Parts: sequence; C-alpha cells; structure tokens
Amino acid sequence: MNPLEGQVQNRRFVSSHLFFVIAALGAMGATSVAAAQSADRPWMNANLPPAARADLVLKQMTLEEKLALLHGNGMAHSPQWTMPLTELTNGGAGYVEGVPRLGIPPLVISDAGYGVRDSGANGRYSTAMPSSLGAAASWDPDSACEFGTVIGQELRAQGFNMTLGGGVDLAREPRNGRTFEYAGEDPLLAGTVVGNLMKCEQAQHVVGDIKHYVMNDQETGRNFVNAVISKRGMQESDLLAFHIAISIANPGAVMCSYNRINGNFGCENAYTLRDVLKKDWGFRGFVISDWGGTHSTEKASAAGLDQEQPMADFFGPKLQAAVEAGRVPISEIDDHARRVLYAEFLSGIVDHPIQKSVVDVAKGFEAAQRIEEKSIVLLKNSPAVLPIDPSRVRSIAIIGGHADVGMLSGGGSAQVDPPGGNAIMPAGKGETVWGQPVWFPTSPLKALQAKLPNTRIAFDSGTDLASAANLAKDADLAIVFAYQWMSEGMDVPNLSLPDNQDALIEQVAAANPHTIVVLETGSAVSMPWVDKVAGIVEAWYAGSSGHKALANVLVGDVDPAGKLPLSFPKSEADLPHRAIPEPPQFKAGMDREAFRAQAVNYEVHYGEGAEVGYKWLEAEQKQPLFAFGFGLSYTTYAYSGLSVDSAARTVQFTVKNTGKRSGTEIAEVYARLPKGSDETFKRLAGWTRVSLAAGESKTVTVPLDDRVLKTFDEEKDGWDLAPGNYQVLVGGASDDTSLSGSLDVR
Ligand code: BGC
Repeated sequence: MNPLEGQVQNRRFVSSHLFFVIAALGAMGATSVAAAQSADRPWMNANLPPAARADLVLKQMTLEEKLALLHGNGMAHSPQWTMPLTELTNGGAGYVEGVPRLGIPPLVISDAGYGVRDSGANGRYSTAMPSSLGAAASWDPDSACEFGTVIGQELRAQGFNMTLGGGVDLAREPRNGRTFEYAGEDPLLAGTVVGNLMKCEQAQHVVGDIKHYVMNDQETGRNFVNAVISKRGMQESDLLAFHIAISIANPGAVMCSYNRINGNFGCENAYTLRDVLKKDWGFRGFVISDWGGTHSTEKASAAGLDQEQPMADFFGPKLQAAVEAGRVPISEIDDHARRVLYAEFLSGIVDHPIQKSVVDVAKGFEAAQRIEEKSIVLLKNSPAVLPIDPSRVRSIAIIGGHADVGMLSGGGSAQVDPPGGNAIMPAGKGETVWGQPVWFPTSPLKALQAKLPNTRIAFDSGTDLASAANLAKDADLAIVFAYQWMSEGMDVPNLSLPDNQDALIEQVAAANPHTIVVLETGSAVSMPWVDKVAGIVEAWYAGSSGHKALANVLVGDVDPAGKLPLSFPKSEADLPHRAIPEPPQFKAGMDREAFRAQAVNYEVHYGEGAEVGYKWLEAEQKQPLFAFGFGLSYTTYAYSGLSVDSAARTVQFTVKNTGKRSGTEIAEVYARLPKGSDETFKRLAGWTRVSLAAGESKTVTVPLDDRVLKTFDEEKDGWDLAPGNYQVLVGGASDDTSLSGSLDVR
C-alpha cells in the first residue's frame, strides 16, 4: 500500500476466533490435524481429484467455517493491519483460518516476488533470485522453473504454504515501478516465463498465485486509477499474458488488482473476474484481493472475488449479514469456499502439512547464479572490449553504483532482505526500510578481483565526476556501474538514470575510450551516451549471486546469452504516453469524500491497445535504442533454410554458430497477420534456445502458438484465426529477422 494515496482502510477487524484456533491447533499439532485420514473423512483420500475432495468436505462445513475461508486476519510487520505474530501466522503477509476439525489447514501466506519476503524481520534466510524481468531475459522456461522451485522450497522451509509471487502485468508503461517484478512486454514471453515459474513453485506444495489481475500497469494512483482500454486491446495484450501464465501454471489463486478497469475495480469487476477468468478460461482456483483492494460486499462477491485480504472489512461480518438477509445467495458462498478448498487440495498443502526446515542456502546461491548467468544481456561490444583479456588489461577502474560493496535489488513487497543487512547502510542499521533502496552484499569489485588476481583494480564512488574521470584515464579499462532503483508504490519519473549518472558516464567515457557500462536496472533506461562507450551490459537486479554471474560474463567464463524482454526506447517521446498523468493527491486533513470525487476521475487511456512495446514502436515506425529480443554474444550466429509447415503450425530452420566460441542463441519467430488486417506490427509467435559449439549447426523446429495469432472480435465476444497468408519472420531480435516465409491458414 502507498499510504500517501489515502486508501481508506478499516483497521479494526481482528478475527474473533483466530486466537482460539491458533491455540487449538497448537495443542493438536498442525501435522497430525491435516494428515489425519479415516473412513469418515473421504476428502482426505489423495487419490481423488481436487474438485471432488473440495465438494466432499464442503458438504460438512458450517456457514461460519465457510466464511472463515473468505477473508484474511491481518498482516505481520504491518503498522496498518495488525496480526498476532505466532508460530502459525509465521510473520507473513496473510493468514486464513483453516477448518481444523475437518483437516483443512490454514493458509500461511508470504510475499515472494523474487524470494521470500521479511526473512530479516523474521530472523530467517531467503535467497534473492534475479528480478523476474531479469529472468525473463533468459527466455528459458527451465530457468523460470528453477526460479519457482527454489522459492517454493524456501517458502515451505520457512513455514509458509502460499505464495504471493507470479507478477505478469505487461511492461506497457516502462516507468511502472514494478516492471522488475513482471516479465516484460510480450504476452507469450511473459506468460510462458511466469507460468513455468509458478507451476514449479506450486509443485513444492505451496498455493500458487498469479497477479495483479489486471491492467495494473502503473503504480501512480494505483488504488483508484481507471485503466481505460478497448476489450480487444486488453484481450490481445495483458489478458493474453495472464491467460497463458494461468494455463501453464494452473495456480490455486489469482490476485485481483487495486486499479479500476473500464470503470470497475479489479476486485469487483464482473467482466475480468467472472466472464473472462472464470467462465472463458475455466479458472477453478480462488480470486484473492490485493491487500486492501476490496471495496464492496455484494458487488465484489457477485463479480467473482472469493477472498478479501488482509482483513475482513467486507467479507467478514458484512458478508455474513448479507447472506443472512438473502442479499448474497448461499450458492455464491459455496462457490467461493469450494475454490479455496480446491486450491488447497490442488497444491497439496492438505496432504503435505507445513514442516519447517533449514533453508538450503548453497542450493539457492547456485540457482540464483545460474539464472543470472542466462539473463545478463550484452547490449554493445564494439570494438570487442569484452570479454576482459587479462593479458592486455592490467588495470581496471571501477566506478559508481556502490560496486565496491554490492548490487542493487528491487523494492516494495517483493523486497528480499539481504543477509547481514543493506550493504550501503551504516553498520547495525541495515534493516530493510520501505522506500529505501537495498544493496545486496554482493560486491562485483571483489568478484572481479577474484577472477583477475593479477589485475590492478581501483574504485571510485563516482560522486565527484572529475575524480572518477581521473581514475579512469590511467586504467586500461573503465567499468561504470549504473543503477535505476524501482519499487512498488512509485513509478520512476522518466527513463533517465538518476543521480547524475549520465554525466558520470559521459565524463568517464571521455577520459577512457575503453569504457564499459554495467546496468543494474528494473526496466528500460535511456542512454544519451550510447555512442561514446565501448560496451554495455544489462545485469538487471542480479540476486544473491549476481556479482559472481556478472564476473563470469565479464571475463568470458560464461557467454552472455540473454535477450531483452522489453524494448529500450530512445526516449519517453517514443512511448505511447509521454508522461504518466498526474493523479490527485490526498493531503492530511482533506475530506475523504472530496478526495474520492477527484480520484474517481483519474484515468489513463491506453489508446495503444495491444500495441505494447515493440509492437507500438513498429506500428509508429520508431527505431528503438535496443529492440525487444536483442542481445549480443561473444560468438555470432547465422540463420538459414526456413520452411513452414502450415498444417502442423511449425517452422523449421537452421542456426549456425559462425564464431570461435560455444554459445546459446535464442532464435525468435514472429508472425504478421494476413493482408486485410489493420495491424502494422509483428507478433512474437514462438522461440527456441539453441546451444551450439563453435562452427556447429542445428536445425530446429518451433511450434507457433495459435493464441498469439488470433484476433479478438468484440462484437461476437470471441476469437478469430483469420484465414490467409501470415508472414513468418525468423531471427535473433525483433528488428533482425533475416528469414522470411509464409504460413497458410485456411
Ligand atoms: C501488493 C501485492 C502484495 C501485497 C501483500 C500489496 O501492496 O500490491 O503485490 O502481494 O501487498 O504484501
């Protein structure tokens, strides 16, 4: 929550019988409760399908028990929503009572965007994966799976059985402060990455979650902004990303978002929740509100919200009263409760009760490093300054970005606490503070020194430009570490690097022609100095072992293979919206009704519809700074021999490694709709990762995903696959497709 936005919250409710349940469960032992299975508990038979088990147990439940599943009981470490910190509530973001007498466990919920949250406050350890956006740059479903697996295991080890990870909103607005929590601008890429991540996370017996449904594409005014967009535009962009992610992950939960969508709040929006998610897509899990994102009782319940979080302002006593007065039918309550139960059986948390254990730190470190190594994107390398050759490079000037002590991480509810505290805070004051950037104690300087023991490495903080340039001037190589911090609750004002870093880079580059910039950013940034530096490496927020992964790439022990999951435009002028519109501000002492009256008029008009990122740039004929899907390697590749099998909907082509090193190429396939369509951009339709030794060739087959070839017809409220010849384009980036063929759809 961003308190400045004046979200109205009723903080009074604390579940009346939560304490009783905790005491009772404590006495019985959670494990024995959930594991208990006998003939009079047929729903405990793990061989039955989750839906059948949910139906069986629902029949045994009282109204009060059903209602208890439909709301939270507070949030730990929250000044706004209190929750008792006990063995059961576990210091997490939320807690939902189970039904102990029937063996249904409580939901013990934690945020886990790129690792388990609040480990510092709870005296535990969590691995920080690279940011989700960074992981998306690997274009690798297996890496996404590893990402989710580790987080799932660490959630379980810490005593949680539900995650709040799984952000898949599109990077429609790259200034969105949560861009780092999402997976880029393309629905197929984002949906595939987040879907695989959450599928594997849920496989660890935690209830999975995909969020924030939907059009939560900016943080500015997020609690009231009305995202206005055509149905077609939404269906072919953000909704498609969610649909793909949900169909892969089959998550137990989907979190509805704070914002409004075409007038109605995300958590009481009958179109997005009831019609699309539940009816069209057949989602059987439960819709959980974002924290404080519930605004009504009857309306939200009828629209398809199943569970209010983190309190019970609308789905507690008010929902009970509405049922008793006949304003909410009991069938609706049954549907909500059945969905929560379904998610519990589906994810295995009933059959596998929480059992805390010690987090496997080494395993987390290794996974985080592997994923970051696949995610780093080499944007520029001319003349070939990288990889660093220690026989020629005897001295390196490392400048800026606190590279002597650590690397940056993304903020907000996704924030993972670094072991030992924030690397840039004075000793003893390293706790995570909302709104303050956190550097992990992962010094790239030290990691490089370990790789290059015979190279002189010196550091300058970069705060004094002349001093930085002076250090750079005498070194064989200068590396500037540049950062853009992002956090939930705020958007960045523009795409420029903050803190005078553009000037720093210009000065260093003027002093040393062999200057490399390493970027630690949560989104795209503009680069007025792009032509003046020799190398640019995008490391994103690099996670618990990011320094080691980066050092391996810089010295060439690992070939950079990542490709951009979002376009880097030249400037804000090339975005669909030059600036994010100013929202009304809630000021202390202001009348709430007066504020509400202003807030209700705050809108963003997404006139670009499905033209998000590279699609917009292409349709508007704007050249990006670096295109979606772009990324260099230390080797080179050539594409040949495209053939398209229209009936099988596959394309085949050959990729050859034409350089002197082995590497992995991400080969991308795009399609253009047939003539007669009004579309002036191409769509990503598939890709594959090809690992090749120097000189090696491989012929690969890539299936084309029909879902991204279709168009949404608003009148018939459904999808069409237009007959005709689709142009198929294949290559190594969205702006570099050397092969062209035709797909004939009849
Ligand atoms: C965020 C969610 C998060 C929740 C609980 C909200 O402010 O938008 O992503 O899961 O808080 O921390």
